[in-house]
Amino acid sequence: MSFRYLGNKTKLSEWIIEEISRVIPAGSSIADPMCGTASVSLALAQAGYSVTAADALAFPVIHARSRLLAKQAPAFKAFGGYDKVLNWLNSIPPIEGYFFREFSDAGCPANGREPRLYFSASNATRIDGMRSSIRDLAISGTISKLEHSLLLHTLILATNKVANISGTYGYFLKELSKNALHPIKLESLPFEQTPGCHSVQEGPIEKLAPTLCVDAVYLDPPYTKRQYAGNYHILETLAQEDEPIAVGDGGLRPWKEQASDFCYKRAAGKAFRRVLKHLNVPHVFISYSQDGQVQEDELLAILTDFGKVTVHEQSYNRYRSNGRAKQGHLMERLYHIKCN
Ligand SMILES: C[S@@+](CC[C@H](N)C(=O)[O-])C[C@H]1O[C@@H](n2cnc3c(N)ncnc32)[C@H](O)[C@@H]1O
Repeated sequence: MSFRYLGNKTKLSEWIIEEISRVIPAGSSIADPMCGTASVSLALAQAGYSVTAADALAFPVIHARSRLLAKQAPAFKAFGGYDKVLNWLNSIPPIEGYFFREFSDAGCPANGREPRLYFSASNATRIDGMRSSIRDLAISGTISKLEHSLLLHTLILATNKVANISGTYGYFLKELSKNALHPIKLESLPFEQTPGCHSVQEGPIEKLAPTLCVDAVYLDPPYTKRQYAGNYHILETLAQEDEPIAVGDGGLRPWKEQASDFCYKRAAGKAFRRVLKHLNVPHVFISYSQDGQVQEDELLAILTDFGKVTVHEQSYNRYRSNGRAKQGHLMERLYHIKCN
C-alpha cells in the first residue's frame, strides 16, 4: 500500500522501531498522536506494541482506524462481505455533484474560477456517486463505524491513484496525466492480525497530551512550512464527508483553523515545549529532520529541559513533492527523551 504523503515514515519505520525497542519492549503501550498515514502505528502494532494513534486531521484518523482496528475484513452483513460492497460501490451511477463542479476538468467552480483539473470529469462524478452512497450507508446504520472508516479509507486510496497532482493537493497539473485518465476503482485492502490492543482518537496533540496514559509517546510533527490541512484538502473533504467552500484558484477548503503551529518557524519551538510540558509519560521519541523549522541546537535545548536526551541519526533521500528524490541526502533524527 503506497501513500504519497509529506513526511511519510514507511521507509524509516524499521529503523524507528528498532530504536524504540531498545528502550521499551514489545508488549508495551505507545502513542503515535501525529500519525499521518499510520505507517509507524501499523509497524509498531506489527512489532507487538499496543498503539494509540491520533492526528489533528480527519483523514489520518480514518487511515489509522482502518489499518489498526480492522484486524480482519469486517462482515458488511447487508452486502455479504467487503469485496461485495466494493463491487456495489464500483458500479454506483455517477453524479454530477460537488467533486465534479469544484475539482474536475469539466466543472464550473462556484466562485467563478477556471475549472480545476484535480480529476477527470468521469472520475469526479464517480467519486461524487461513491461518497454519497457511503454517507447514506452510514446515516441509515447499514454499516458500522469501523466499516464506514474502511470504505472512506479505500475511497481515499483509490482517489490518490487518479488525482491529477504532483505529490500534494496544493494545486493540480495543467493537463490531465495518464494516471488521472484511468477509471477510479475501489480495491480491497489487506488486513493485519496484530496482537496488541489498539485505539484511535482524533484531535490536536496539544489537547490529547495530558490524557495519554502510555509507556511512551512517538511524535512525528511537520517539519516544514507546508500545512497538511491545505496540502491534503481533498482527502480531508472525503474524510469529513462535507462540501466546504472551495477557495481561490486551487479550491482549498478553509484550513486556517486546522493550521499546525509546528509549520511556523516562530511558533514551532513553543509548540514542542507546550506538548512536552503536558505529556506525563516515561519516554518520548521524536522524529525530526535537519531541514526542520526548529534548528538542531534550539531543539536540543528544549528537549533537555524535559529529561536526558539521546539522538540517533539516519541519512535519507530528500523529499520532492513529485515523489522523486532531490539531489543529496537529509539527516533524519530520532530523539529519545528519558523524561525527568
Ligand atoms: C510528518 S506527518 C506524520 C507522518 C507519519 N508518521 C507517517 O508515517 O505517515 C505529520 C502529521 O502531523 C499532523 N499534525 C500536525 N500538527 C498536529 C497537531 N498539532 N496535533 C496532531 N497532529 C498534528 C499532520 O496532520 C500530519 O499528519
